[in-house]
Amino acid sequence: MVMFLWLVTIISLLSARNISAEFQRFEHPINGDGTLRFLVVGDWGRKGEFNQSRVAFQMGRIGEALDIDFVVSTGDNFYDNGLKGEDDPNFLHSFANIYTANSLRKQWFAVLGNHDYRGDAVAQLSPFLRKIDSRWLCLRSFVVDAEIGELFFVDTTPFVSKYFTKPGHHKYDWRDVLPVNKYTSQLLNDLEGALKESRAKWKIVVGHHPIRSVGHHGDTQELVHRLLPILRANKVDLYVNGHDHCLEHVSDDESTIQFLTSGGGSKAWRGDSDKADSLKFFYDGQGFMYVQLTQSNVEIVFYDVFGRVLHKWTTSKMELDTFM
Ligand SMILES: *[C@@H]1O[C@H](CO)[C@@H](O)[C@H](O)[C@H]1NC(C)=O
Ligand SMILES: *[C@@H]1O[C@H](CO)[C@@H](O)[C@H](O)[C@H]1NC(C)=O
Repeated sequence: MVMFLWLVTIISLLSARNISAEFQRFEHPINGDGTLRFLVVGDWGRKGEFNQSRVAFQMGRIGEALDIDFVVSTGDNFYDNGLKGEDDPNFLHSFANIYTANSLRKQWFAVLGNHDYRGDAVAQLSPFLRKIDSRWLCLRSFVVDAEIGELFFVDTTPFVSKYFTKPGHHKYDWRDVLPVNKYTSQLLNDLEGALKESRAKWKIVVGHHPIRSVGHHGDTQELVHRLLPILRANKVDLYVNGHDHCLEHVSDDESTIQFLTSGGGSKAWRGDSDKADSLKFFYDGQGFMYVQLTQSNVEIVFYDVFGRVLHKWTTSKMELDTFM
């Protein structure tokens, strides 16, 4: 019932289209036991192919066992070129008909990836999709306040200058994003404001592009320069992204931020990666991530296509507060 009312709230909040970068806010009530649990998957929509269905099956199984509250998508939701429009059947073939487990019948919070911008990006944000599958909530930038943790979703694609300067044969849907410098500056301003106001124990920022990655694409310089200083100054705990089709965990060397890539929702095995001192874990194949927050601890677990644990990491707020 709570879930239902909450969905109604979302739908009514979203009925007026708002094109500014200003963050819309959603409240997510948490479990009676005060913990927050969610899965993170990225770079997935390939009609079940490239192990997408196997990852989906394991997400369902693990999601059931761990009783998750919601699912986060780090973008590149639909390949190769996003959705063609609101009625693109790829929405069913790559999302609704793939993540069918009961445990995944929860709210999904999604950002756009660069591939999504190559289609009708506005369609993915449309309330019409929620009529087809009420789980779907994709916006450019928004905040989910889940009491103990606050998640700040950030639209990273417009930060990456090569999509503008060297688009190649790709066409990007920059409607509502231009002029881009104004858009990204406003976005960072709004993010900074939202982070400063946040009273949540845990602050998590979600974007499509990595800040730090040893995978194929590597660091995103624009985000290292413009986004990272804001995250460091505002004691963000986790930065979660996709884009590189792998699973990885890198620690920041100047703060307690953990960089977590969950981009293994379908096609993977790129076969190229670098080394880094601050690298805690890297897996080139498919899988997904689980996050659990309690008042005192955060736990991260990465799973592969067989549902096997690849990497587990936990720390306490006390430990983080004594850093430096
Ligand atoms: C978007 O919403 C914010 C606050 O909800 C409001 O201040 C702003 O004017 C809206 N922008 C547009 C373009 O409607
Ligand atoms: C699917 O996963 C298995 C196990 O990791 C792997 O051996 C296989 O290559 C994957 N298939 C594709 C298409 O990536």
